[in-house]
Amino acid sequence: MIKIEKLKKIFSTSNGRRIAVNEINLSVEKGEFFALLGPNGAGKTTTISILSTILKPSQGTVTVDGLDVVKSPHLVRQKIGIIFQDPSLDDRLSASENMDFHGRLYGLSKAQRLMQSESLLKMVDLWDRRNDLVRTFSGGMRRRLEIARGLMHHPKLLILDEPTIGLDPKTRRTIWEYIHLSRKRWGMTVFLTTHYLEEADSADRVGVMDEGILVAVDTPENLKKMVGPEVLVLQTDPENLESIRSFLENRFKINDCHLDPEGEISFPLPAGEGNAINIVRTLPGNIYSMTIRKPDLDDVFIQMTGKNMSLNQENASPFHRVYRGKL
Ligand SMILES: Nc1ncnc2c1ncn2[C@@H]1O[C@H](COP(=O)(O)OP(=O)(O)OP(=O)(O)O)[C@@H](O)[C@H]1O
Ligand SMILES: [Mg+2]
Repeated sequence: MIKIEKLKKIFSTSNGRRIAVNEINLSVEKGEFFALLGPNGAGKTTTISILSTILKPSQGTVTVDGLDVVKSPHLVRQKIGIIFQDPSLDDRLSASENMDFHGRLYGLSKAQRLMQSESLLKMVDLWDRRNDLVRTFSGGMRRRLEIARGLMHHPKLLILDEPTIGLDPKTRRTIWEYIHLSRKRWGMTVFLTTHYLEEADSADRVGVMDEGILVAVDTPENLKKMVGPEVLVLQTDPENLESIRSFLENRFKINDCHLDPEGEISFPLPAGEGNAINIVRTLPGNIYSMTIRKPDLDDVFIQMTGKNMSLNQENASPFHRVYRGKL
């Protein structure tokens, strides 16, 4: 459904050139649910803007369902539904009017517009509010309406740029129910960007993006397997962190510790290096608690980039690793 080859986007700024997307390669299958995970400024929205024909690539090619986004932007737009990171509803119109306007842009007949609008507004629980101005809607209601609007023309590819940011857990769950329902009904492909690890976790495959580079692409399970079977998390005094880090490096050859300034240190438990108790017993300083848990996508991100998703740059580890799985 999507083929991205050697895609590069360079912006000219007052301080010179900024490479927002740096030679990324990626294929997404029809019907796949793909999540692009990365911190602020990683290049997610820029990639999505090129996919949806809003921006032109500086280099490389992008096709959607076999159509080049630069050569056939109008045909590409017919195939996609997009939910932007920034709200894009007209709040001086009612919910129904927003739906109808979108349907007209996509050339739907009056009968199709009425039918689609009713079924989608019912799906997102806004049918009773259809005649109210969007200005009077809450944030969650607006987001639900944007999703209904994005589905109005039955897109083959739904692109969502952080669709649930700032929403409460219940609304986030509801929005995901609608998206999965639509996938089931129409076999729609979903391309999502998110900061939420659990959203990325439920995708078929995840791309980890940082500073314009796609550092890893694989299923969530495979990505987590690369970290190791388990992660050990220790709580100590903040001033003790560095001495524990160098001790672990020298004694156990553990090079990929992640330090949290609050006094937490975490690292993948090395296989065959003795169990966690043996490691902890030898450590200098006070250890207040230890937890052994399965790796999550945050650990994957740390391992790949030396930073965590919340991006504490000062805390970046020098041990960067670039993994190229199924790109
Ligand atoms: N129009 C522009 N002109 C100049 N620089 C830009 C422009 N748009 C984006 N950038 C820069 O490109 C980089 C990637 O931005 P982008 O919006 O793609 O990141 P993102 O991964 O979507 O981040 P976020 O999670 O904050 O939405 C950033 O350094 C940003 O400042
Ligand atoms: Mg963005």
